[in-house]
Parts: sequence; C-alpha cells; structure tokens
Amino acid sequence: MERTSIRLGGVELASSVMNASGARSAERGEIYELCAVHGGAIVFKSCNRAGLETPENLKNRGVEFFQSIATELTARNKKVIGSVVGASEEEFIDVARILDRAGASIVELNLADDYVTKSVAPFASFERLKSLLGRVRGETQCVLAVKVPPRVPFEPRAIADLFKSMRITIAVCANDLPKDLAIDVASGTVQGPPRTLSDAHAFFRESENLLDVVAVGGVNTGRDAYIAHLTGATAVQVGSALMKEGAGALGRIDRELDSILAEHGHKSVSEIVGIVRFSR
Ligand SMILES: Cc1cc2nc3c(=O)[nH]c(=O)nc-3n(C[C@H](O)[C@H](O)[C@H](O)COP(=O)(O)O)c2cc1C
Repeated sequence: MERTSIRLGGVELASSVMNASGARSAERGEIYELCAVHGGAIVFKSCNRAGLETPENLKNRGVEFFQSIATELTARNKKVIGSVVGASEEEFIDVARILDRAGASIVELNLADDYVTKSVAPFASFERLKSLLGRVRGETQCVLAVKVPPRVPFEPRAIADLFKSMRITIAVCANDLPKDLAIDVASGTVQGPPRTLSDAHAFFRESENLLDVVAVGGVNTGRDAYIAHLTGATAVQVGSALMKEGAGALGRIDRELDSILAEHGHKSVSEIVGIVRFSR
C-alpha cells in the first residue's frame, strides 16, 4: 500500500489527493490527461441534466457526456467521482441516478454553488435540505458526498448528524484555515487554545467516525495537504494549483505529501487524519 492511499467513505483510493470539481475536468481530453498522470480518483466537473452555457463557472456538456466517460473509466478500474448541480430536486435526483448507474464510486452533490443556492435553495430550511438529500439517497446506491458552502445557516453538528442519519458518508468542506496559523508540522501542534480551525475541521469534530471530510481550498503544496489532513481531512481537492500548473500538480502534491509523511515516520496518511493538538 502506498503511503498516501486512503479509504474515503469506504472507497479505496490510491491517493488522498485529487482534483477539485471543475479544475481541468470538464472536457474529455482534460479528464483523460488527469487520469494518465495521477492514480487517485478523478472528480468530474459539476453537471446538470442538459448542460449549461451559463453561468460560466458551471458551463458543462450535460450528464450524458459524463455518463459515457464514467462508463469507460470504471471499466478500467478508475475511481470516478461525479458532481451534480441542478435547478430542482428532480434534476439533482435524475443526474445523480445517471452517474450512479454509470459506475461512479462517489457522487458529490454540489450544494456550494450560487446557482444551486438561488434555485433549489437547499439551506433555506432544514426540511428543504433533508428532503433533497433523502430523495437523492433513496434513488442511488453509490457513496454520497455533499459539497457544503461556507457559512451555512445551521450548526455543523446539525448538518453532520443529518448526513450520518442519511448514510451520506462524505462532507466536502472549505479548507479555510487562518492565513497566519502557527503550526508545528512535526508534532501537529497549533499554538493557542483548542478551537475550530476551518469548516473541514468543524465537520471532522462532529464526524464520530461516520463521516469523512474532504478539504477543498488553498491546497497548493504537500505541506498544505498535510495540514489539511492534520485538521481532519481524509482527502484533499486541488483547484487553482491545477489550473495554474497543469495536470502535473496532483503528482507533485502527492509526492510532497509522501515525503513529509516519511520524514515524520508515518507509514500511512490515515495515521495523521485529525490528530492536530493545541498548546495553550
Ligand atoms: C476553473 C474552475 C472550475 C470550477 N468548477 C467547479 C464545478 O463545476 N463544481 C464545483 O463544485 N466547484 C467548481 N470549482 C471550485 C473548485 O472545485 C474548488 O472548490 C475551488 O477552486 C477552491 O479550491 P482551490 O483553492 O484549490 O482553487 C471550480 C474551480 C475552478 C478554478
């Protein structure tokens, strides 16, 4: 087993590092390029039923396009994570079901985008969120992940408990650590009193081993990935670094993470998930 391989939501992945949805994952060529250079999971661009031309950040070719790529990749044992957006509950269910049946190991419901907030408004009430997730869960077999927007109007505990009760086993959360975080990486110690360090950390603290956290945002180096793992992430997603640097960014971050793990005597990345400590 490689040092950076991990089990996420019960799915074995060759690396805890993966692309963030949308970063070089909208077109067939981009997806195959990422698959060629990195052994971990591939996360597809968020897609809806028929495709979108606007908003620009959600421009996609529609679920059937991703369905055919998922079928091809899963036949080659590649772990595929589909990402869903929609303007209605029905569209979410429909798209999630199609990706599930195409063989995606994990389906990520993108509840973090404005497009979704303005249409489905999943966080307008707890009942709304429960209804959407319950209906998608009822229609799919795969592991389900939810990409949670920052600053949701409910306590992380309430959302985490809802996920657990609905067998949603992955929360994709903002890795919004303080910029000036003073951390001794070798010992995993953060200066100051015990506190919540990021959205990802907040969800990890409510996870009770029933929920895995994926941290997204600001992961540009192996050190960033290592700190995200220390603060509770089972896996990390890389967006901007991949856009800037190209597909090779994932392998670089994986190798850097591997070196830091080795340097600190860890045989597996799973040993450091959530072990951050505080010094007063
Ligand atoms: C070009 C681009 C396209 C994106 N498209 C999506 C998308 O379709 N679905 C989604 O959930 N997030 C999308 N995102 C957001 C990323 O998944 C990620 O949350 C964000 O870039 C933060 O990570 P970073 O700091 O590593 O960039 C996109 C980001 C970029 C840069």
